[in-house]
Amino acid sequence: MRIVTIANQKGGAGKTTTVMNLASILSENSRVLVADVDPQKSSAWWADRAGNDLPFDVVDDTNPSNLSRLRELQYDVVLVDTPGSLEGRDVLATVLTESDFVILPTEPSPLAFAPLIATINEIVLPSKVTYRVMLNKIDPRVPVELTDAEALLDGAGLLRFKSAIRDYKIHKMAPVEGKVVTQYADGDSRIAAKAREDYRRVALELTSLWAHTGTRAGVGA
Ligand SMILES: Nc1ncnc2c1ncn2[C@@H]1O[C@H](COP(=O)(O)OP(=O)(O)OP(=O)(O)O)[C@@H](O)[C@H]1O
Ligand SMILES: [Mg+2]
Repeated sequence: MRIVTIANQKGGAGKTTTVMNLASILSENSRVLVADVDPQKSSAWWADRAGNDLPFDVVDDTNPSNLSRLRELQYDVVLVDTPGSLEGRDVLATVLTESDFVILPTEPSPLAFAPLIATINEIVLPSKVTYRVMLNKIDPRVPVELTDAEALLDGAGLLRFKSAIRDYKIHKMAPVEGKVVTQYADGDSRIAAKAREDYRRVALELTSLWAHTGTRAGVGA
C-alpha cells in the first residue's frame, strides 16, 4: 500500500480537486481509498454528491493518528486530503509520519510560492517523505505562464512533476455535479478528454517514481 498525501498550507491550491481526480484515474488499475482529514471535509462532501457512482471509497476522519490503521485494509493506494491552513500544520506533520509520498499542488502565481516553499521547508523536508510539486490551474491559452512557473520552481531547487494540470471550468463544476474526471459528461468531450489526459500524465509519473522507491511497509509492498 502507498499512502499519498496531498498538501499545501495555502488554501485553494487544488488539494481536494487533485485528490478526487487522481483517485479516479488510479482506480482504473488499483484499489483506491480517499481519506479526508481536513475538518472542512470537502472530499467527503464531493463524494456524498457522487453517491454510489464513485470508482473508489472515501472515509472522513479528522484524527490523523488513525491513518496507520488504514494499512491493514485491502487498498493499493490511499490518497489523503489535508487542511489548507497554518492551523492544519500539526495535522499535516502527523499525516506525513504515515505517508510514502507527498504531492503539493500549487497555482502558478509567484505569490503562491512563498506558502508552498514554507510547507516544503518546514514540514515536508523534515519528514523525509519523497515529494513532488504539481503545477495546477495552468491557463491553456498562456503557455508562458507554465514555463515561467517551472523556471521559478526549478530555480528554487524544488522537485516537481514534469506534467501540469490545466485550468478548466469543468473542474470547478465537478464537486457540485458529483463527478470526477473519469466521469465528466460528454457535453464538452474535447475538454473532458484533455482534463483526463492531464491527470493521466501525473498518475503515470507517480507510478514510474514508485517503481524506484519503497514504502514504509517495505519495498514493493
Ligand atoms: N485545474 C483546475 N481548473 C479549474 N479550477 C480548479 C482547478 N483546480 C482547482 N480548481 C478550483 O479551485 C478552487 C480550489 O480548489 P480545491 O478546493 O481543490 O483547493 P484546496 O487546496 O483543496 O482548498 P482548501 O485549502 O480550501 O482545502 C475550487 O473552486 C476548484 O474547483
Ligand atoms: Mg480542500
